[in-house]
Amino acid sequence: MARLCHPKCRLGNKSMGWLQILLGGLVIILSICSLVKFYSAGFFFHNEDICRQFTGVKDAYEGFDIKALSDRVGEVLNKLESLQEKLESAVQQMEKDKETLRTTNITKFEYKKYLEEDVIRPLYAAHISLRLIRLPKAEGIHNSTMKEDPLINTFVIEEIRKYITPKESRTGKLNIYGTERIYNTIGHACVLYKKELEEYMSYDIGSYCNDDWNLAQKLMLNGCDPLPRRRCLTRASMVYQKPYPINESLWKLPDDRNVRWSNYQCRNFKCLMGNNTKKGYFKCVGCFEMEKEKLKWVTNSSLSVDFLISDVLTIKPGEMRIGLDFGIGTGSFAARMREHNITVVSTALNLKAPFNEMIALRGLIPLFVTLNQRLPFFDNTMDMIHTSGFLDGWIDLQLLDFILFDWDRILRPGGLLWIDRFFCVRKDLDDFMYMFLQLRYKKHKWAISPKSKDEVYFSALLEKPPRAI
Ligand SMILES: *[C@@H]1O[C@H](CO)[C@@H](O)[C@H](O)[C@H]1NC(C)=O
Ligand SMILES: *[C@@H]1O[C@H](CO)[C@@H](O)[C@H](O)[C@H]1NC(C)=O
Ligand SMILES: *[C@@H]1O[C@H](CO)[C@@H](O)[C@H](O)[C@H]1NC(C)=O
Ligand SMILES: *[C@@H]1O[C@H](CO)[C@@H](O)[C@H](O)[C@H]1NC(C)=O
Ligand SMILES: *[C@@H]1O[C@H](CO)[C@@H](O)[C@H](O)[C@H]1NC(C)=O
Ligand SMILES: *[C@@H]1O[C@H](CO)[C@@H](O)[C@H](O)[C@H]1NC(C)=O
Repeated sequence: MARLCHPKCRLGNKSMGWLQILLGGLVIILSICSLVKFYSAGFFFHNEDICRQFTGVKDAYEGFDIKALSDRVGEVLNKLESLQEKLESAVQQMEKDKETLRTTNITKFEYKKYLEEDVIRPLYAAHISLRLIRLPKAEGIHNSTMKEDPLINTFVIEEIRKYITPKESRTGKLNIYGTERIYNTIGHACVLYKKELEEYMSYDIGSYCNDDWNLAQKLMLNGCDPLPRRRCLTRASMVYQKPYPINESLWKLPDDRNVRWSNYQCRNFKCLMGNNTKKGYFKCVGCFEMEKEKLKWVTNSSLSVDFLISDVLTIKPGEMRIGLDFGIGTGSFAARMREHNITVVSTALNLKAPFNEMIALRGLIPLFVTLNQRLPFFDNTMDMIHTSGFLDGWIDLQLLDFILFDWDRILRPGGLLWIDRFFCVRKDLDDFMYMFLQLRYKKHKWAISPKSKDEVYFSALLEKPPRAI
């Protein structure tokens, strides 16, 4: 080391000393880590018989997530390993360039920068990660009531860990829910998308978030749903205009300036109106053409599967007030229903087009949910569920079953389930019919029309019966 420090290079002995201390610390940490790795590799913990016989470890660690711990230790080890490799290669490089080293001056500034960025920062990160590893406390080892929250050690990013750590009431008493702690929930599949979630949750608290709604949506679609909340400020359009008044907004394309277009192929609503299906979402071609949308559910179509809103509402005059439109679209169903003084919430995902913004800018309510989750409505509350355009023959029957029963849950007795243009291949029709009829709803309307050579459309208007049980 000392030889590297040519008189010309002006590196204080002090800083070399620091480097040595750092490296020494690194070696110690590495050796501790390899010991832990040895543990986690199963030499001690996994053979339960041996553990029980000699140490009683199984009892002590009940409720403690060893796997999460070993994953996390593995993560720290990786960090340290890559740091070591970097340092070694830096030294090798110096060795190689001995000659140049003698003749060139490494400025103190460069040296400081190197230490800061390539040594201290990663070492600090590894240090913090090690500190954050949750080991059972000494008393915990003898007290099997201790419960380790299983997910926490899965994640390294501090903000995720903070988020999912249960929060106890500050008074030490039960909280307003009457529970001991509040759990901020995330979807269990988040663990499969750890890298993406960690990217999503890497921000400076209080500053602007990245422009990453599409990362958020990707996580949600892949089962990381619910997503954690974040403590950063969402970006918005820099030129946001006040929305149109409701008597104009319902059937008018919104102002392009109110949407951030950077993650879409289109840069305005007109583009989404075009015929190029590649630009928008293939399931919603034409959704942005208000003239076409205006015809839906109010004009007679050639297909018997197209019911008219006026016909549907005469079945239950005056009874329909609130509902859910489950599908993908720009909210036209909700817009029509609003004209009948019925409040409809429309589910929306921003698949290749700003559906959420579009619905909201029309003055309607977009509900940003995936198929993954139980609907956020209470039992027996909705007067109506309308579904079109999203569920069709691709859907797994068991998934459909869970969804249908959830719809049944939120629909009130006497509420209407309007299945609008469900489609599937003809040979699957019986299976799907069975699914829709198993709830034993009253059939008000029922129609099947050919869609193509092998495919059929199917629409139904069904009424949830009273349940006097
Ligand atoms: C190194 O720095 C010294 C003094 O700052 C200077 O005299 C010398 O020319 C420099 N050498 C090179 C190779 O830049
Ligand atoms: C375990 O810990 C809890 C809470 O810290 C305490 O109430 C309980 O008495 C402990 N049990 C034993 C066996 O020490
Ligand atoms: C919408 O309502 C406002 C007042 O509430 C009115 O001034 C405006 O003319 C209306 N627009 C249309 C298109 O009816
Ligand atoms: C879209 O396609 C239809 C026929 O498929 C055609 O009549 C219409 O002119 C096309 N519109 C545009 C904007 O290209
Ligand atoms: C649709 O057709 C029926 C009969 O075929 C007719 O009674 C009704 O008025 C039509 N409705 C509309 C909105 O055109
Ligand atoms: C909706 O409510 C308004 C105000 O109460 C009323 O004037 C209008 O006639 C209603 N529209 C329908 C279709 O019931």
